[in-house]
Amino acid sequence: MNAPLPRKKNLRGDAAWVVFQILENGKSSRDCLAKVQQRHSSKDSAWLQEMTMGTMRQLPQLQIWLRRLLDKPLKGNKKILEHLMMLGIYQLAFTRVSPHAAVAETVNAAPALGGDSLKGLVNAVLRNFQRQEMHTQVSDDPIVKSGMPKWLYQALSAQYGDDAQALLSQANAIAPLWLRINASKVSREAYSEKLTQAGIEHTFSDEHPQAIIVQSRTDVVSLPGYSDGLFAVQDGAAQLAAHYLGAQNGERILDCCAAPGGKTGHIIETTTDLQSIIALDSDGKRLTRVKENMQRLGHKATIIEGDAATPAAWWDGEPFDRILLDAPCSATGVIRRHPDIRWLRKKTDIDALVDLQASILDALWPLLKPGGTLLYATCSVLQSENSEQMRHFLTRNQNASLQPLSESDSPQTPGRQILPGEQQMDGFYYCRLLKSSN
Ligand SMILES: C[S@@+](CC[C@H](N)C(=O)[O-])C[C@H]1O[C@@H](n2cnc3c(N)ncnc32)[C@H](O)[C@@H]1O
Repeated sequence: MNAPLPRKKNLRGDAAWVVFQILENGKSSRDCLAKVQQRHSSKDSAWLQEMTMGTMRQLPQLQIWLRRLLDKPLKGNKKILEHLMMLGIYQLAFTRVSPHAAVAETVNAAPALGGDSLKGLVNAVLRNFQRQEMHTQVSDDPIVKSGMPKWLYQALSAQYGDDAQALLSQANAIAPLWLRINASKVSREAYSEKLTQAGIEHTFSDEHPQAIIVQSRTDVVSLPGYSDGLFAVQDGAAQLAAHYLGAQNGERILDCCAAPGGKTGHIIETTTDLQSIIALDSDGKRLTRVKENMQRLGHKATIIEGDAATPAAWWDGEPFDRILLDAPCSATGVIRRHPDIRWLRKKTDIDALVDLQASILDALWPLLKPGGTLLYATCSVLQSENSEQMRHFLTRNQNASLQPLSESDSPQTPGRQILPGEQQMDGFYYCRLLKSSN
């Protein structure tokens, strides 16, 4: 359903447009939120983020309330007004926005969305919500309470059993900000001192030698040394990739599916003299971010646009010592950072992703030297993309064996599954494969 960005700037109208774009047009919040945030102050941008992503987390309950309040669903270009009403209800039920402002400002936003004639309806819906004290009438259906789509709730419950509840609540938690201090420019201790001087509270993590965790909401660009490349923003789970890959000086490395280059930068920072590192991605636009990030951090990588599943189009025939495959995946491990993912992913996407991951793995394996290492990574918590994918790969390839990452890493359940919230990290999966030398 085509819905151009509303011509008239209005905070709640713009928020409704973002929600509409995600839910009706399958657009990612990363794109549409940034578009509207450009025309608001940084305070209002933070508000837009909070309201739209909060709506994503509470969507099943909001939809139940709206269905009760609205006799007939709105159609065509009026549909967006339903999203505005949901945002209004969200403010009344889940935020500290004053009820008077929530109702009045939401009603006033209707004309910006072409809903001048529906101001009365928006007003009636919100007033009825208040009058009937609907915020006290919450569903006790566990799926609604989880804020997840039914298919994902069922998949996680089937896989994790009793542990699913903890995982689901972590998926709705607010994630901390993780920094990776650029060891080639500054030590973690010296950077920590800069943060202390700026009055920014932070902690270290034992498992991550370059990491600093900032709990408070912070505008990254305003942190000390951003433009000088003193740090990169990277979750703790993602910071394990370079460590597990274990690149050594003199080696030839392929970082596959590399954009925006978070792990490429880290691999470079853990070595001093690589023979070469290629950052490959199929998305040219995202590759420009790799270039920018390399420039900011002061690193050098060969950037190639290409499809990982068809190396004949971009590979020069020189085998690699190590390959990192950060595979395209469901991103179900990072829902706490991107609450819209749960609504963008459909059940049918998972099988297609599993097939794509397998075809990329099969295409890359011949590019690895005998004795070389391939690190497979996803930000998924679904075993079909992770341990099952690896088990099938090991069965298909007799010259592949498991190089364990931890004691629990076994041929039956290969790899390390990190769950969201574990040591404050995102959900992630790693598995290290060794290619036999003969
Ligand atoms: C999880 S993100 C990578 C994050 C990145 N490794 C980092 O640490 O910053 C997955 C990437 O895979 C890329 N991708 C998806 N399908 C691909 C393919 N067939 N070939 C190459 N890249 C692909 C996407 O464009 C996306 O940038």
